[in-house]
Amino acid sequence: MIFTNVIKPTHICNLACKYCYNDDVRKPIMTMDTLDRTIEETFSYLRSNYPEAKASFIWHGGEPMVARLDFYLNSVRLQKKYSGSVDYENSIQTNGILIDKDWLSFFKEHDFKVSISIDGPKGINDKNRVDHRGKGSFDKIIQSIKMVRDEDIPLGLCVVISADNAEHVHEIYDLMADLRVPFNIVPMNKSGSAVSAFNEIGLDADEFAAPWIAMYDRWFDADEDYVYCSDFVFKTRAILAGTAVDCFGLQNCADTNLSIDPCGDVYACATLSGDKKYSYGNINTSSLSELMSSPLAIAYRNRATDSKCSTCKWQHVCYGGCLARAHKFFGDYNRRDFYCSSLYQIYEHIETKLLSRIPEAYSRRSANRMSSVINFNRKEKQNEK
Ligand SMILES: C[S@@+](CC[C@H](N)C(=O)[O-])C[C@H]1O[C@@H](n2cnc3c(N)ncnc32)[C@H](O)[C@@H]1O
Ligand code: SF4
Ligand code: SF4
Repeated sequence: MIFTNVIKPTHICNLACKYCYNDDVRKPIMTMDTLDRTIEETFSYLRSNYPEAKASFIWHGGEPMVARLDFYLNSVRLQKKYSGSVDYENSIQTNGILIDKDWLSFFKEHDFKVSISIDGPKGINDKNRVDHRGKGSFDKIIQSIKMVRDEDIPLGLCVVISADNAEHVHEIYDLMADLRVPFNIVPMNKSGSAVSAFNEIGLDADEFAAPWIAMYDRWFDADEDYVYCSDFVFKTRAILAGTAVDCFGLQNCADTNLSIDPCGDVYACATLSGDKKYSYGNINTSSLSELMSSPLAIAYRNRATDSKCSTCKWQHVCYGGCLARAHKFFGDYNRRDFYCSSLYQIYEHIETKLLSRIPEAYSRRSANRMSSVINFNRKEKQNEK
């Protein structure tokens, strides 16, 4: 099991992407005391509650590299000091602007995985991923991607799908395949500073399915242009295994995910960060065990089942989709994901593609097996009630 702590060392950013959900006006860099508490408490919580779990630290923001290299040298020192028997890993989610040789050496030496945000080829990326003067970031991002890739540092790319690039998914896939770098796609969220941007370039609930499916088909049928996409792999694997494999489809994602902001406020998810009313409390004044048993944490960890989800064919892999998106769109994490109608189409499409690949003779057996997995999960759930 993986326990993920998304740490935001700062909300400061050297870019000003037009759709960014990051809207916290407080702009400190996390202090060494808060960093120390964050790391010590994460390991201590795992030792007491999930001794077999691996801790996954994702450094996020704002722009995490604005906190500078020394901050991360301290982070890895503190991880060594407090980890004890708990295994752990580090990833950084960055806009890539500040990557240079010193950072590359650090990533290599300390086994950091790197994820860089990019929304497609230059004309598409530079519509929204711009600096504070409105200048596009593409040229520097591509340079950084190649620098990280060529050092054999584990690398992924993160693409936000909005109305500005939804019709260009083949160009996006071509870019990923040319770069030979794994990627992920996420739909634009309506949140923070992105609320007004969402009204301009957000997708309707059923509009995420078409670009997702067009790109999935490229991936599924790919030959030489195959490139790994985590959302495609996770959702396909979920259907085959009969159970969700990432936080977007987990029934209780808040059991194993949290996020800590630059001031030490603790949230269920990085996308809720910055708004005090979603916070469990502060790591400087409470232990993580106390925070994870706060009324809000307990409520998140026991998300109710939306009535439409309870009779949905895909509930066992979707569970209402993303809790934070439900919260941001509807002000209620107990509702189902805003993108529900797209998610339903996506799962239906994966099933059709999988069945189309299985030879006729095998297909009935396999379809039966798939539905028995599904029914098995349903039965388990019924037994739980
Ligand atoms: C908030 S950024 C922080 C890390 C870093 N500055 C970066 O851009 O990668 C983390 C990820 O969220 C994505 N993101 C920002 N605003 C978003 C929104 N409104 N909806 C969905 N994803 C968004 C970014 O593109 C990026 O991939
Ligand atoms: S998406 Fe990342 S790079 Fe862009 S403004 Fe937000 S925090 Fe900065
Ligand atoms: S597809 Fe929609 S109805 Fe079905 S489980 Fe997911 S969110 Fe609920």
